[in-house]
Amino acid sequence: MEPSAIAHDQPAISNPKEHDADMELDPYKYQCGFGNHHATEAIPGSLPRHGTNLPQKCPYGLYAEHLNGTSFVSSRDTVSNVFLPINPDVSFTPLAHAWGPLTTEPSTDVAAGLSLDTQVKKTTFVQGLRTIGGHGDATLREGLAVHQYAFNADMCQQAFANHDGEFLLVPQKGTLNIKTEMGMLRVRPGIIAVLPAGIRFSISLVRSSHKHAGQPEEELEEARGYVLEIFGSHYTLPELGVLGANGLAHLRDFEYPVAAFDFVSSSKPSSSPWKIILKLAGRLNCYSQPYSPFNVVAWHGRYAPYRYNLSHFAHLTANSDQLDPTAYTVLTAPSKYPGVSLVDFCIFGEKWAVVKDSWRIAYYHRTMATEILGVIKGLYLGSVRPFEEGGLRFEQAYMPHGETYEAWKRDREDSHEPGMVGKDSLGFMFHISSHFALTKWAMEDHPDIRLEQPGLWDTMRSNLMDHIDEINANLKKAGMPILDASAMQVVPSADMKHPKRSNLPTPPPAPF
Ligand SMILES: [Fe+2]
Repeated sequence: MEPSAIAHDQPAISNPKEHDADMELDPYKYQCGFGNHHATEAIPGSLPRHGTNLPQKCPYGLYAEHLNGTSFVSSRDTVSNVFLPINPDVSFTPLAHAWGPLTTEPSTDVAAGLSLDTQVKKTTFVQGLRTIGGHGDATLREGLAVHQYAFNADMCQQAFANHDGEFLLVPQKGTLNIKTEMGMLRVRPGIIAVLPAGIRFSISLVRSSHKHAGQPEEELEEARGYVLEIFGSHYTLPELGVLGANGLAHLRDFEYPVAAFDFVSSSKPSSSPWKIILKLAGRLNCYSQPYSPFNVVAWHGRYAPYRYNLSHFAHLTANSDQLDPTAYTVLTAPSKYPGVSLVDFCIFGEKWAVVKDSWRIAYYHRTMATEILGVIKGLYLGSVRPFEEGGLRFEQAYMPHGETYEAWKRDREDSHEPGMVGKDSLGFMFHISSHFALTKWAMEDHPDIRLEQPGLWDTMRSNLMDHIDEINANLKKAGMPILDASAMQVVPSADMKHPKRSNLPTPPPAPF
C-alpha cells in the first residue's frame, strides 16, 4: 500500500514554475505492475479492514463506492474496484446539453498523410477531440474508434468520463497532466496512457516554465495526439508464447497512480459547479455537481488508469525474413472471436536490424487488417516515402501496398550489414483486425487529409523479360511450352494510371 503525499486541489497546474515538461521532475508517485491488484491511500488507514469492501462504518466517515468495469461473472483478472470517496457520486444536476455526435460515416476511400488540426483557439481536450474513423458500435460493445486531439486550454473545473470504451492516449506533442479519480498521471510524448471506461479525468497541459521575452500571451502552447478507443474490450498484454519470460513490454513497467484527491472542493460545495462531460453512444452530454468528482481518498482493485514509457519496450529482431508488425505489440485488445485481436497497439523504436537475404523495407502485401501508422517523433524509416512527425497514414484492409520500385531495387542490392535503426525516432501502429470507416469530418473537414501521392507505383515494371532466356531454357528442359516474349510487352494506357477521385466508384453503404 503506497500512501500519497499529494492531496491535490484544482487547478492541477497552478504555477508553471513548479512544474516542468521534463519527466525527471514528474511530481507524482506510481505503483508498478500491469494488472496488479493495487491498494493505495491518500490518508493512512482509509481503506476498509481486510475481509470487507463495504463496512457499516468506513474510516473517517468516508463513503464506500464500487466501480465495476466488467460483468459480475468475469475472470478474476478484470474484477472491480472499491473507492472510498468523501461524497458519493449521486448528487448532480442533469443539463439538457449535448454535443456531438462522434459517430462514424462510411467510406471505402483510401487516405494517407493525416496530420493534426492546428487551427485551434482556447480549446480544451474534450473540445479538441475529433473522430477520424472506426467500426462497430459502442452500444453493442463491439469495435473501436480512432480520434485525434489538439488543445491548448485546461479543463479546470470540468471532468470527462467516457462511458463507451477504454481510451489509449498517444501524445505526439505536449506533456499532459491527467487528473483521474484514482490519482495523477504525467504523460509526455513517448509515454502512453490507458483510461478505462467510466473513470473521470481532467486533462491540463504542462506548460514550459521558460517563456521568451516579448512572447505574446495568445501564442498558446498546445498538445496534440491520438486516441484509440475500444468498445467492449480491455487492453491487455500479448501472450509471450515461445519467447518465455522476456521481450516486448514488461509487466513491471506499467505504472498506476496513487490515491490523491481535491481536499477543499470535495468537502464543501463550490459556488461555481463542476461540469461532468460524458460520452455515451458517441454523443457528448453534460451535467453539473457542487462537489469535485476527484474525491477518492483511497482505492483498491485492478480497474484503474495507467501509463507506460515506450522506451522500455524490448524490441525483437530476426535473422531472416521480417517479423510481422504484431511482434512490436505493446498492448492488445481481444475481440469476441477466440484468438483474434480487436486491435494491437504496436510501436517502432530504436532496434538492431540484422536480417540477411530478405527485405528491410516494407514488402508488398495485403492483409485482412487495417493498418494505421503514425509518427510520434523523428524520421520514420519503415518507408522511403516522406512521413512527417504527427502524421498518420492508413492502409485499408486487403488493400495492396508496399514500397516504390526504386526502393525495392535499392534494397535488393543492399549488403544489409547489421546496424541500429530507428535512432531518435518513434512510430506506432494501430493494427486493426477489420475494415475502417472514415468519418464525414475526416473526409470533408479535416484540414490536412490527402490521398496517397498519385503515380507512386507507376515506375513498377515486370522483371520477367530480364530473365526470359533462362526461363525459356528451363521450360524447354521441363518439356513445357516456352513464353512468347513479344506478347509480354504490355504498356498501361494513360487513363489507367491515375483514376481521378471523382471517377472512383461510389462506396457501398456501411453495414451498420
Ligand atoms: Fe502493411
